[in-house]
Amino acid sequence: MPDDGPRDILGNPVLVAPPMAMLAELTHRCPLACPYCSNPVELARVQTELSAAEWADIFAQAAAMGVLQVHLSGGEPASRRDLTQIATSARDAGLYVNLITSGIGLTETRLRELDGVVDHVQLSLQGIDAEMADWISGYGGSFSRKMQAVEWIRAIGFPLTLNAVVHRQNLDRLPEMIDLAERLGCRRIEVATVQFHGWADLNRRPLMPTQAQAIRAREVVLAARERLRGRMVIDYVPADHHAAHPKSCMGGWGSTGLNIAPDGVVLPCHAAQTIQSLRFDNARERPLAEIWRDSTAFNAFRGTAWLPEPCQSCDRRELDFGGCRCQAMAVAGDAMVTDPVCTRSPLNARLRAEAEADAASDDTALVYRRMSRELRS
Ligand code: SF4
Ligand code: FES
Repeated sequence: MPDDGPRDILGNPVLVAPPMAMLAELTHRCPLACPYCSNPVELARVQTELSAAEWADIFAQAAAMGVLQVHLSGGEPASRRDLTQIATSARDAGLYVNLITSGIGLTETRLRELDGVVDHVQLSLQGIDAEMADWISGYGGSFSRKMQAVEWIRAIGFPLTLNAVVHRQNLDRLPEMIDLAERLGCRRIEVATVQFHGWADLNRRPLMPTQAQAIRAREVVLAARERLRGRMVIDYVPADHHAAHPKSCMGGWGSTGLNIAPDGVVLPCHAAQTIQSLRFDNARERPLAEIWRDSTAFNAFRGTAWLPEPCQSCDRRELDFGGCRCQAMAVAGDAMVTDPVCTRSPLNARLRAEAEADAASDDTALVYRRMSRELRS
């Protein structure tokens, strides 16, 4: 890999365009304990969280470098008492502000404070009823509190997207999830099959969907899109392990977006810290634009010069850039190889066999995502 920036397979320098979106993980604290959480297993301790003033500076830098929208996320962003102050600084920087929340911890008063500050709310859905949602989230009463939050969100008039993470335990109820989103007046539902990073990787056996479920889910989504055309948008992220080709993760590494972890570490994607050979800069120590443009971590997988075979000679290399680096790391132990989800990867047969074995398991014991008391202090 050249030291002087990214290159294409002909050796020509690649232009680094500014990012469009930024995910701001305000905290790793969360009242829920979802086993599919993409947060790292090593959560950031509360004491290291960026202050509201530091976030304001980051938002101003982001807007100056061309970022258009910020997604306030976590953990649960409402766990920050200064959420309104943080969101207001993002708004003042001129960013489109999307709040990604479980709804737990949002009171009507807090939501009203966010009126005119937050442009859009994205609410997670763990299940279609209390029994399923409370079990998956590891939080008794989460479903009823979430439905209460939806009522407030609708009364205030925030545009609402329901974000349903689907897996083997709830995929058979996908039609009901779509019906619920319609009944709740959502503009959009995002049906995202669990990605096995972070805590989700500890829950492969209970959560891995079967191939039959993946096929059925696609049919359900296509039929619902037809039925709801012009009324509600359905985004669908299918199961990786049953696809022929990988997705272009993050639209390509370091090409459209960046993540800021609660402690200020700047990441090309939410799971990037699993690639331990990379060194990640902190926004407390280096200007954001410089990190985006020049850091070794962001330049590690830009362009196409670094691509391994068979990607180098594949006509899809400009479409998926060899797939997800974190998945390559998780499965192969090497972030430089072709994403094993690809049928052209020598590891694909192994990946599929393991996914089928996980999907055939009758294990329903969930490893809940918990933050130790030490990290919460
Ligand atoms: Fe994508 Fe590489 Fe597979 Fe081609 S060989 S489809 S570029 S992952
Ligand atoms: Fe990191 Fe895909 S999650 S590149």
